[in-house]
Amino acid sequence: MQIFDVLVIGSGGAGMRAALEAGSRGGLSVGVMTKMFPTRSATGMAQGGINGVLGNADPNDTLAKHIFDTVKGSDFLGDQDAIAFFCEQAAAAVKEIDYFGVPFSRDGEGRIAQRNFGGQSSPRTCFSADRTGHVILHTMYEQCLKHGVKVLADHQLLELALDGGQLAGVVALDIRTGRIVPVKAKAVVIATGGAGRMYWSRTTNPFTSTADGMAACFRAGIPLKDPEMVQFHPTGLAGTGILMSEASRGEGGYLVNNKGERFMARYAPEKMELATRDLVSQAIETEIREGRGFGEGLNAYVLLDLRHLGRDKILERLPGIRDLAITFEQVDPIDAPIPIRPSCHYSMGGVDVTDFRTCATALPGVFAAGEASCVSIHGANRLGGNSLADVMVFGKVAGAGASDYAQNREFGGDGTLAAQAAAWEARFAAATARSGGPSVASLRDRLATTMWNKVGIFRRGAEMEEAREAIAGLAAEYEGCAVGDGSRVFNTAFVNYVELGNLLTVAKAVVLGALSRTESRGCHLREDYPARDDANFLNHTLVTLKGSEYELSYRPVVVTDYQPAERRY
Ligand code: FUM
Repeated sequence: MQIFDVLVIGSGGAGMRAALEAGSRGGLSVGVMTKMFPTRSATGMAQGGINGVLGNADPNDTLAKHIFDTVKGSDFLGDQDAIAFFCEQAAAAVKEIDYFGVPFSRDGEGRIAQRNFGGQSSPRTCFSADRTGHVILHTMYEQCLKHGVKVLADHQLLELALDGGQLAGVVALDIRTGRIVPVKAKAVVIATGGAGRMYWSRTTNPFTSTADGMAACFRAGIPLKDPEMVQFHPTGLAGTGILMSEASRGEGGYLVNNKGERFMARYAPEKMELATRDLVSQAIETEIREGRGFGEGLNAYVLLDLRHLGRDKILERLPGIRDLAITFEQVDPIDAPIPIRPSCHYSMGGVDVTDFRTCATALPGVFAAGEASCVSIHGANRLGGNSLADVMVFGKVAGAGASDYAQNREFGGDGTLAAQAAAWEARFAAATARSGGPSVASLRDRLATTMWNKVGIFRRGAEMEEAREAIAGLAAEYEGCAVGDGSRVFNTAFVNYVELGNLLTVAKAVVLGALSRTESRGCHLREDYPARDDANFLNHTLVTLKGSEYELSYRPVVVTDYQPAERRY
């Protein structure tokens, strides 16, 4: 059996930063378990940059401005003590990863270049062209190898294993061999990313963003916080939902409707295309609804026009999105505007972190960081560029928290691990032996259609009730669904079956949270409750599994310096 003092699940920015922190302390055995290869995670989808107050592009930028922009961007649902801590650490994190080797783009004086992003009062997004997440992943992987972190690639997390309420480790599927493997650990960091694939129809997320860590924690009794807060990025390619980075608007790109209007003037006259993502996405969808878009149905779109930026700037600053637009939409943005529409991008909610200084959860020994977690610093709307800062800041915090915890603990017993592994063996046998039920792909597609159409950018109680019923039906069908492949080696059909179960588990919490929050705040736009309701909902939603029931409760938002006020951009 594999044994680790600190086991990190997930190899994105948060996971590898956590592992690096634990590994660099010395004396601890540290592992990273991932269902992919470490450099292929969703962090690579954060293209445009990482926020930190360096003052390179604007000497008047301040920490207070970053804090306020983040609080306001969150529509006042972010915890202000955690946001202040995060912003204080973010600039140091940028300098630290520069030192680790991240190849940042530079300004004329050789300093880290910074660009504008949405909802910011100063240009503070540091970048490496439009491949920032990608280069951070590669740098983190190099550093992890340097510090002796052991990588368990091609391992699908199945379950947290508890021994008398104490963490014993995890049970996973070794995808290469098909064996169900128990892995012992004193502390576990959940850094498995988000749940964007429940909106399979249009998402910027990779195939692997399937809520695995959220679902495992939830089944182990840890609440999900604010699951209803799902971010739609304004600019996904029309046909596929693939991300056209916010850097495109940060560098000066326009959004245009079928009348040739820069329509953002109607919705955010001051910030225009650089208003927050919730507002820009809602504006684009309104234009399409009211007949000012192009095309029809799911693939209707508006245009992102970069032509005025000129060839040189596009090639220097936005080469990645140019490649993607050419490959997937057959449009070269140097010559023609890009068809775009909002695309599901980010889970602001996630595993409830109860202490932002350690990233601890309610279950001793279990820590969480990155998109899988909810600290909460993003509240009801995350600012672009704050996610890479989040994974670097809280990845490090979680690695430290887990290391400190592991220093003073003994390993739990083997009994639970063995029993849970045996239970999963039985499940593998039963699920792969079934024939005749609905396929995993058909259930997954119906889930995605339900989420996109009924729990999307515009929400209504009646439609979400329908979604709740539909998901209950899908969950029942899931029990009898056909995996279709009983082989052991690289049985990706079984992996997809596990992932679908996780998506269904978390989708139910998303719908419950969204139905119960009878107000509009940030990305959560209730057409039947259009106003923000601070009297009743300046609270985090908590959804907890009790037996087989989802229990709802609320926790007040931490307000320190900034009283909630109306947002204008
Ligand atoms: O648009 C982007 O480049 C995405 C960045 C982010 O989500 O932070």
